[in-house]
Amino acid sequence: MELGITGKRALVLGASRGLGRAIAEGLAAEGAQVFAAARSTDKIADWSADMPNVTPMALDLTDHASISALAETLLADGGVDILVTNSGGPAPGPAATTERAAWITQFEAMAANIFDLSAQLLPGMRERGWGRIICITSSGVEQPIPNLALSNGIRSAVVGWAKTLASEVASDGVTVNVVLPGRIHTDRVDELDAAAAKRTGKPVDEVKTASAASIPMGRYGKPSEFADMVVFLASERASYVTGSRVRIDGGSIRS
Ligand SMILES: NC(=O)c1ccc[n+]([C@@H]2O[C@H](COP(=O)([O-])OP(=O)(O)OC[C@H]3O[C@@H](n4cnc5c(N)ncnc54)[C@H](OP(=O)(O)O)[C@@H]3O)[C@@H](O)[C@H]2O)c1
Repeated sequence: MELGITGKRALVLGASRGLGRAIAEGLAAEGAQVFAAARSTDKIADWSADMPNVTPMALDLTDHASISALAETLLADGGVDILVTNSGGPAPGPAATTERAAWITQFEAMAANIFDLSAQLLPGMRERGWGRIICITSSGVEQPIPNLALSNGIRSAVVGWAKTLASEVASDGVTVNVVLPGRIHTDRVDELDAAAAKRTGKPVDEVKTASAASIPMGRYGKPSEFADMVVFLASERASYVTGSRVRIDGGSIRS
C-alpha cells in the first residue's frame, strides 16, 4: 500500500527512544522528512546517523520557552504536516494523595504545552488543507491503571482535547486521533518491570512472564507494531479516520 507521505514534514515528540523513536523511524522509512524531538538530541543523532531525512530537534516539554522555540524554528521553515505528540511517563502514585503541585507540573508537560504547540502548528495544516495529529496516551484512558493517577487523569484530558479539536478541523483536511499503547516492549517497560521486581522481591523474569500472561496475546507488543499503526494514521490512506481512539494493546483492555 502506498501511504502517500513521501516528502511530508513530520514532527515526533519524545523521539530519543521507545515509541517515539519507532514512530520517527517508521515515518522516515516511508519517505517523510522527520523532525525528531527530545531532550537527548545526542541519542537521536546516534540512531538516525544513517538516515538523512531525520533531523534531531531539542525539546524540553516541561519548559514553555522550549516549545515556543521549536515552533518558531519549524514555522520559519514551512511548518509541519504531521505532528505526533508524546512525552515521558509521570511518576506512579494514588489518586487520593497525589499533590496539587505534581498535577500542575505534569499537566503542563503532558497536556498544556502539547496543546499550545499544536495550536501553533495547526494554522499551516489548515491552510494547506492537509494535516495529521496523533497523540500517544495509554490504555489507562479506557481502563485506568491502578496507582497511575497522574497518567490516567492527564492523558484523559488529552483525549478530551483531541476529540474536541478533531471536530473543529475535520473540514480542513486535518485529522486528529489518539493511540492507546497497552504494554509495548520499550526501555521504559524494562525499567518498570525491574522496579516491580525490586518492590515485590520477585525475579524480573517472573514479573515479565506474569505481565505478559495477563495480555490476551500472551506477549508484549514490539515498538515497530505500535509504530505501524501510527504511521498508517499519519498517512494519506487514513484520510477518513478522525476523532478516534485506537488501541494497540494485544487485546489488554477488557471492555
Ligand atoms: N511503552 C508502553 O507500553 C506504554 C504504555 C502506556 C503508556 N506509555 C506512555 O507512552 C509514552 C512513551 O512510552 P515509551 O515506553 O516510549 O517511554 P520512554 O522510553 O520513557 O520514552 C519517553 C520519551 O519521551 C522523552 N521525554 C521525556 N521527558 C521529556 C521532556 N521533559 N521533554 C521532552 N521529551 C521528553 C524521552 O526523551 P528524553 O529523555 O531524551 O527527553 C523519550 O524519548 C510515555 O509517556 C509512556 O508512559 C507507554
